Amino acid sequence: MKAAMLLALLMFAGCATAVLVPTQDDVAAASAVFPDVTLHDLSDGRALFVARCAGCHQLPVPSAHRPDEWPGLVGKMEKISDGDKALIERYLVAASARSRPSTELAASR
Ligand code: HEC
Repeated sequence: MKAAMLLALLMFAGCATAVLVPTQDDVAAASAVFPDVTLHDLSDGRALFVARCAGCHQLPVPSAHRPDEWPGLVGKMEKISDGDKALIERYLVAASARSRPSTELAASR
């Protein structure tokens, strides 16, 4: 019983850390696409992404799509408000760019 709980906790921690936590470096990179982006936007976007994007399928991996592909993909998803989508887009564009070091963010728009 205890072992099972510990395992569940470890697995949960593993999932949570796999979803890249935004830093000031990500803000600097994302500002090439979203000039007014803040760290607060990216943190909120990450929280909304985790909360809203695993309801119908598994949480997607940010690096699975190029930064310039994310806004279109997020736009297609139903049952999420435009305001939440805007923040989730900012987060995914930044997280995808960081996990794909060769991506030229400024050129991706
Ligand atoms: C209301 C249910 C629902 C929610 C909520 C939802 N999705 Fe989806 N998603 C789907 C369905 C259904 C598909 C498969 C059909 C399709 O590709 O359009 C899908 C497919 C996808 C795909 C694969 C598309 C492709 O062409 O490879 C991605 C990536 C994705 N979702 C990302 C997201 C993200 C990011 C969020 C949060 C903003 C999200 N989804 C929230 C229903 C949902």
